[in-house]
Amino acid sequence: MKLIKSIQEMRSWTLKQKQLGKTIGFVPTMGFLHQGHLSLVKKARLQNDAVVLSIFVNPMQFGPKEDFSVYPRDLEKDSLLAAGAGVDLIFYPDISEIYPQYPPLTSVEVQGITEELCGKSRPGHFTGVATIVTKLLNIVQPQSAYFGQKDYQQYLVIRQLANDLNMPISIEMAPIVREEDGLAMSSRNAYLSPVEREEALALNQALEICHRLYLSGEDRIIPLVEAIRTRLLQVPSLKIDYIEIRGAADLGQLTVIDVSAVVAIAAYIGKTRLIDNLLLEVD
Ligand code: PAJ
Repeated sequence: MKLIKSIQEMRSWTLKQKQLGKTIGFVPTMGFLHQGHLSLVKKARLQNDAVVLSIFVNPMQFGPKEDFSVYPRDLEKDSLLAAGAGVDLIFYPDISEIYPQYPPLTSVEVQGITEELCGKSRPGHFTGVATIVTKLLNIVQPQSAYFGQKDYQQYLVIRQLANDLNMPISIEMAPIVREEDGLAMSSRNAYLSPVEREEALALNQALEICHRLYLSGEDRIIPLVEAIRTRLLQVPSLKIDYIEIRGAADLGQLTVIDVSAVVAIAAYIGKTRLIDNLLLEVD
């Protein structure tokens, strides 16, 4: 497995793969890899001849009071995990390589869907994500790029920008990978104390309660949201950021689930902000 830090070398490698007729699948990450990231690698591996994974903790998507400076990092372990999962190349640029001038004068802003859910509590976050993903896609030039349902709104934003900017890249999504007890895997779970780690189970459990209620015939948004709220409020140290059930295609408001929907939760456990979601498919 190769490790490349420069944009120029990354481009030369891509050019060589293309000359050999090989397709490239790309998995952008911020590192501190877990099985959620590796599930994207596995999907990319099945669908492409070569797999590139990037590790870049992107300052532009963190708010001034967020965790950029303490975001967990472990390149050595990441390299072992990536190699084991079949990554051919890790792209690991420095901040100065990606942003010779910071903040950059050009940014990518997706309207509408970025103003909902996480966009409300993290102003500027999705512009940071859209800008870095556009830059990485332009550098790596893959045929396909892989994103997790864990960050469902992020997936929608990237799908939108790839369409709107006519990128010849297929944007793929893979399901949420969970710990055995149901907690959605996240690099940020490393911040949780043992007690908080237990409390964090409330997110997935609240989604499961909602799912069961829906399967038993309840399709009105208000009672479904209330069922989630009731479960989350059982954890006194948990602070709800939002509980939303929106159209899965465009995050539009619903009163009943008459189209495929995403049930999305964001909550603070102590200082750690966690998100989780559930897709309810309607055909
Ligand atoms: P990061 O949080 O490292 O996540 C990288 C990718 O892994 C994202 O597509 C995310 O949705 C996916 N992922 C994370 N946890 C997952 C889980 N439990 N199951 C399935 N997939 C999971 O998301 C980012 O980085 C950044 O915003 C990035 C896109 C790299 C831009 O900086």
